[in-house]
This record gives sequence, C-alpha cells and structure tokens, in this order.
Amino acid sequence: MDKTIALIYGDGASPEIVTQAVRVLDAVAAKYGHTFAYTRAYMGGEAIDKFGDPLPQSQLDICLASDSVLLGAVGGPKWEGLPGEKRPEKGLLRLRAGMGLYANNRPARIWPQLAAASPLKDSIVQKGIDFIVVRELIGGVYFGEHKTFEKDGERAALDTMPYSEHEIRRIGRIGFETAMQRRKKLTCVDKANVLETSRLWRAVLADLAGEYPEVEYNVMFVDNAAMQICKDPAQFDVIVTENMFGDILSDEASEITGSIGMVPSSSLGDGTRGLYEPIHGSAPDIAGQDIVNPIACILSAAMMLRYSFGMAAEADAIEHAVGAALDAGLRTADIYAGAPGTQKIGCAAMGSAILARL
Ligand code: IPM
Ligand code: MG
Repeated sequence: MDKTIALIYGDGASPEIVTQAVRVLDAVAAKYGHTFAYTRAYMGGEAIDKFGDPLPQSQLDICLASDSVLLGAVGGPKWEGLPGEKRPEKGLLRLRAGMGLYANNRPARIWPQLAAASPLKDSIVQKGIDFIVVRELIGGVYFGEHKTFEKDGERAALDTMPYSEHEIRRIGRIGFETAMQRRKKLTCVDKANVLETSRLWRAVLADLAGEYPEVEYNVMFVDNAAMQICKDPAQFDVIVTENMFGDILSDEASEITGSIGMVPSSSLGDGTRGLYEPIHGSAPDIAGQDIVNPIACILSAAMMLRYSFGMAAEADAIEHAVGAALDAGLRTADIYAGAPGTQKIGCAAMGSAILARL
C-alpha cells in the first residue's frame, strides 16, 4: 500500500521520539512492501517560532491532505507566557477540531516486563491492568467560552462546558463499540451529582445501552473513578468520558502501568484519517539528551497502522518488537528500576533495539 503520513516533530524532546518512530515505520514499509511518503507539518511551539501561529491553516491543510498524522508532543516553557489563543496547546486543540477527531482512545495496560515499575502494590497489579479510556476530544470545557474580565473591581475568569446530544451520542457509540470488541464492560465517568452536562451524558448513554444488551454498562462519578483506578483497576474494561475528565484520568491510568512514556493514543473521527500521539508531554527538561522514551510514539505509529491503514500484522510486529526489547532487559530511564538483568539505554538505542527485533 502507498500511504502519506504527515509528521509533526513537535517541541522539547518530541523530535527525538518521532525520529525513532519514523525509523520503525520505514523498516515496516520495507519488510511488508509498503511505501510511506512523509510530509512535514508544523504545529505548537515550532509553528509559533516559524509562522507566529501555533497552527496556520497551511499546516492543517497538510494534515488534512495526508492519510494520517503522527505527532510527538508540543509545548514548553519558552511559550508559556503567551496568551491562551497563541499557546502551543491551542495548536493541538485546533488540529484535533480541524480534523474532526472526536474519539480519543488511550489504552492503559501493564506490560508484564514492567510490573515492578508500577507504583501500585503487587497484589493490585497481579489482578491485571488492561483498560481503555475513550475520551471525548473536541467538545466540553476545552472548546467552551473562555474569558478573563473585571467584576466588582477585581479580575474574574470563566470557562464554560457545553455538550450537545449528538456529540455525546457519537462518542458514546464508540465507547459501546470498543467494549463489544473487548470484555464487554463500559463505564461512563461523569459528575452527574453536580453537572448538567453529565446528566445529559447519562441520559444519552442510557439510551444507547438499550442497543447494546451484551455490554455490562455502569456509571461512576469522576472522583470515585480516580480512586478506583488506583484501588482496583482490574474492574475496568472501557471508560467513556468527557474531554477534561479523560485528560486527567488517562494520565493517572498511564502512570499505574509503570510509565506515561509507554502509552500511545489514537484520535479518530468519522473517517479513517487519524492523529496518533503519545499521551505524554514534550518533556522540555530532558530535551536533547537522548534519554526520552520513544516507545509511546512507536506504539502510536503501530496504532496508526492498525486503525487508519488496516495493517494489523504490521502493528502486531511493532508491538511484539517492543515486547522483545523489554524482554531483553532494555529500559529507558523512565522505566529503569535497576532490576537484575536490565540495562539503561538512551532514546536512539531503544529505537535501534526495537528495529533489530522487528
Ligand atoms: C493531552 C494533553 C493535552 C490535552 C494538552 C497538551 C492540551 O494534556 O493530550 O492529554 O489536555 O488534551
Ligand atoms: Mg493530558
């Protein structure tokens, strides 16, 4: 197959991980007889530096003209003083919205090789951690009204959290469909004891539940969910939730699996064109030192092959190669705990180790 992939190298340590993911993609293309043509798009801090805008239309157009987009991460202290509209993160939000990517899939699963890196007790880890956070990505408070103003002689600010029924229904359906392909359990996480939007989520999800009688469906308040994720993560199969709750819970979910440096994500809309990115940030503090973990980005590339290109065998091959590198005891700093038989290596060396095992 011939595919075009837009690459967003991103900020901080991000170019280092995208570089490794591209090496892996090239090796897969060679092995399976595909051609991947890359176009470069700029977004985030690098786009601010180049164009004075975190996502110029020209760069969004490059993404829309490609078969899929691979991204590292954006942001950093250099751009922190900028107003909200000009920040690197705004570029990411505009990219997600501009591509219509409402469904963000963030898998939290523990690699057996890394069980010791989980901050949870063995007795909890042993029960298994394997769930997916299906996060609504282009609605809610991230896309509501934002403003700072003066009120009664002092500064005030406001962010609104709007959701319409159709936005909830389409992500709810993804939640049920995802559960159908797995252990058939879906948990809607919300704050329905306080928020109107959550009560609408519950109403719409309850309707959908009728269409999926095989799915064991339940609801949970977000504060309780945050607690349950560290107390008994084995109870979860698929969590479906609104944008900000999903942002917060997916960091927690990734950390209990050992390292946020291991967790990829896919963002999809109605078509097959997606955006694939690690869930971690740009790690500016370790940029340029060749110590960042490239695995989340490499696994994001695998998700792209699986979900956007229908290349399941190729995606499996990458995931197996990652597992084999971990089996060999190879660890980047974030997943290195000094266990016997393990060795700390850098970002490029981890890329090479995975390549060698493809
Ligand atoms: C994420 C990130 C982003 C988000 C930031 C960088 C805007 O935290 O992808 O989880 O909040 O969605
Ligand atoms: Mg986040």
